[in-house]
Amino acid sequence: MKVYITREIPEEGLTIAQTAAEIEVWPGELPPTREQLAERVRDVDGLLCLLTDAIDGWLLDQAPKLRVVSQLAVGYDNIDVAACTARGIKVGNTPGVLTETTADLAFALLLAAARRLPEGDRVVRNGGWHTWSPLFLAGRDVHHAVLGIIGMGRIGYEVARRASGFQMQVLYADAQPNAQAERDFGARLVTMDALLENSDFVTLHTPLLPATTHLIGERELALMKPTAVLVNTSRGPVVDQRALYKALVEGTIAAAGLDVFEHEPLSANDPLTQLDNVVLLPHIGSASIATRTRMAVIAAENLVAGLRGEPLPCPVN
Ligand code: DGY
Repeated sequence: MKVYITREIPEEGLTIAQTAAEIEVWPGELPPTREQLAERVRDVDGLLCLLTDAIDGWLLDQAPKLRVVSQLAVGYDNIDVAACTARGIKVGNTPGVLTETTADLAFALLLAAARRLPEGDRVVRNGGWHTWSPLFLAGRDVHHAVLGIIGMGRIGYEVARRASGFQMQVLYADAQPNAQAERDFGARLVTMDALLENSDFVTLHTPLLPATTHLIGERELALMKPTAVLVNTSRGPVVDQRALYKALVEGTIAAAGLDVFEHEPLSANDPLTQLDNVVLLPHIGSASIATRTRMAVIAAENLVAGLRGEPLPCPVN
């Protein structure tokens, strides 16, 4: 059997994949183009892909033998799952193993934006630190503040755990109540509007779906406190980026910490890069060596199970 892997992945994943198939790996640092990928999947049985690869009906039609698509990520909005299902192709992802690493990063962004850490770093490096003074780089307290979590799933729950260590009050908005978060951290389920109006920090942990696209737009930003900080480690299109830029410039909200963007990679010329009140990261929520290794192992296990016609350990369809 043949498998195509769309980027170098940790060795541990390759070793597992090699037990079931002949492997070919895209050697580039940048993803293959649609056409390049189409050429490479023509006679493969399995595909291990990343969130940078668009796996849609057209691509699947170029791969008549394909029986499994294994995504090395928990989010899979780059894959047309219905098109895979219609063709009898199994889809897998890597939930669970990146939960805490991503929650760590969300909290790091929250702290960095609140306490203006990147600004401080830039000031020191640029020779702008001349003396100690009372309001020099004064930021906002995180401890005892109100944190609004939109999407109390696995990652949202772990962010709430971190917040409880900072004695924050946790509000959350979700279609489903999370009794465990309520019991463990005193989290309170409220409407989205109430969450936006009452939170000092708002952090997003929803998948990207039609219903969550531009979930945070001009209206929602206007409901937030002018002192509030928005954190996004979910998917870029959950936030209307133009509206956010405007809100940051006009002082509708105080600051933001962003790991994800409407179009990635974010251009170095994007207007957001000109603002001091936003912390920008290059989609590294799950990027610890241990977690990326575990993700590669699960993605490879999904792939091998799919090739063998067995149930995937982490199925999407
Ligand atoms: C995911 O897994 O969906 C992340 O965005 C990448 O770590």
